[in-house]
Amino acid sequence: MEKNNIRITDDGEINFFENVDSDLFIEKTMPYMELMMKYGCALKEITTKFEVLNSEFSLLYNRNPIESIKTRLKRPRSIMAKLAKHGIPVTVQNIRENVFDVAGARIICSFHHDIYSLVEMLKKQDDITVLKVKDYISNPKPNGYRSLHLIVVEVQLRTIAMDFWASLEHKLKNKKNTDTPEEIVDELRECADEIGRLDLKMQEIHKRIENL
Ligand code: GTP
Ligand code: MG
Repeated sequence: MEKNNIRITDDGEINFFENVDSDLFIEKTMPYMELMMKYGCALKEITTKFEVLNSEFSLLYNRNPIESIKTRLKRPRSIMAKLAKHGIPVTVQNIRENVFDVAGARIICSFHHDIYSLVEMLKKQDDITVLKVKDYISNPKPNGYRSLHLIVVEVQLRTIAMDFWASLEHKLKNKKNTDTPEEIVDELRECADEIGRLDLKMQEIHKRIENL
């Protein structure tokens, strides 16, 4: 993207050409930088919270429910696209009020029941407000997608197997913009349902081993 002597690369790197009024540039971009800095800090906080919950859980039950935590800040391009999709002008205030997944964390867990335990533990913390829960584990999407989404900063909790499915399904979706043939949609859903059953089976085996 090239505009007014400034080029922003796909990685978000900003290159200046000659004659840029850098004071003006800094003044104009500062509120945005500040907002992104705050979202970045929120992600660090939420990551720490889940790491602490993981430790507490492991003290209680002698195992770690969290496999891994991934975080990301939404790229400027995607933020703009999301606002544009809803016909909302791009301002710092509009980003704050309309885009709820600028800061995203994905928590990969061992079992479905661990996901619910973690949510309950998180809800009990007095310095964090869960604004919204979307439970696609109890109510899978028509394509079979299963995760539990919390709007705090957007937090997605899912199992290892579902993370594998969602990562690949996302890649397949991105490749072409044409409608996916019905039989492929069906096969993907079958895979997701299979994974759902597999997760429950693993959970069941885990319970039996614990009760030996
Ligand atoms: P967005 O506008 O994308 O935020 O959709 P939404 O507001 O309806 O939110 P939702 O909670 O349904 O989905 C948000 C995020 O969840 C997506 O950006 C993906 O990361 C993930 N997700 C949701 N559905 C699917 C799916 O069917 N497949 C995959 N791979 N990921 C999904
Ligand atoms: Mg979203």
